[in-house]
Amino acid sequence: MLTAVQAGAYLHHLHLYTPDPAGLASFYAEVMDMAVVDLQSGPRGGTFMLAGPGRRLILSDGPAKTLGHAGFALRDQDGLDGLCARAEAHGLAPTPIVTPLFGPGAFAVTDPDHNTIVFGLAQPEPPRRGLRGPVQHLTLATKSVRAIEGFYAEKLGFAVADRVVDATGRVTTCFMRGNHEHHNLACFLQDRAGIDHHAYEAGEWDTIRDWADRFAAHGVTLMWGPGRHGPGNNLFIFIEDPDGNWIEVSAELEVIHDRPVKEWPHEERTLNLWGRAIMRS
Ligand SMILES: [Fe+2]
Repeated sequence: MLTAVQAGAYLHHLHLYTPDPAGLASFYAEVMDMAVVDLQSGPRGGTFMLAGPGRRLILSDGPAKTLGHAGFALRDQDGLDGLCARAEAHGLAPTPIVTPLFGPGAFAVTDPDHNTIVFGLAQPEPPRRGLRGPVQHLTLATKSVRAIEGFYAEKLGFAVADRVVDATGRVTTCFMRGNHEHHNLACFLQDRAGIDHHAYEAGEWDTIRDWADRFAAHGVTLMWGPGRHGPGNNLFIFIEDPDGNWIEVSAELEVIHDRPVKEWPHEERTLNLWGRAIMRS
């Protein structure tokens, strides 16, 4: 039985639902520098699989701004077996799943907000050209940070990196990690459940500039940033896709080895050390 951290869990791909798979695929291809690598016919243009260097996205027909699943890859077969055993032992009923992006043995679990999370082993992929920015974290919106933290941290063994706590002692944000990256999964307290945003890690400031120039060339304006988050200390810019999904391009995300969990105050400065923040609650 292994924790998600021992199994080396990292965000590998996302499956988003959209009422317009073809339209959203064009956006991610052009603006997010990905290519359609597979297309399965079906309603409203079918299922699109897009890929760029380190980033993969599946788009298929469904309500806007909803998660099909998040795919977390594990370091090796022992990691996969060990995390599956842990999910089983904690009553999460891991379900075998066949997906083209993971090898045999992948399994799915469902969190308290009905988000589907798939764990598996990454498949070899051809080298891909494009702007640097592997998909790096998924942030959920939830009405119960406690329930989401309980599921991912206590049951699956993601490690809590930081929490944001308001004046009444209520946890409004929890950042969790499956490896040394400060967070590859987080949740924000909101009056709804679903996706808050997903992020690509550009690594360094100059690459954020290149992404912003790319967005400008496609007429996409920044909706937030540039700024620097307190928790994770990462530089960021945000844009919105045509469905209203928030996309973050980040750099310099903290790498954690051993340090205590930090509690941050629920205020704008926590979410943006440089200026204004988009508060979720
Ligand atoms: Fe983020």
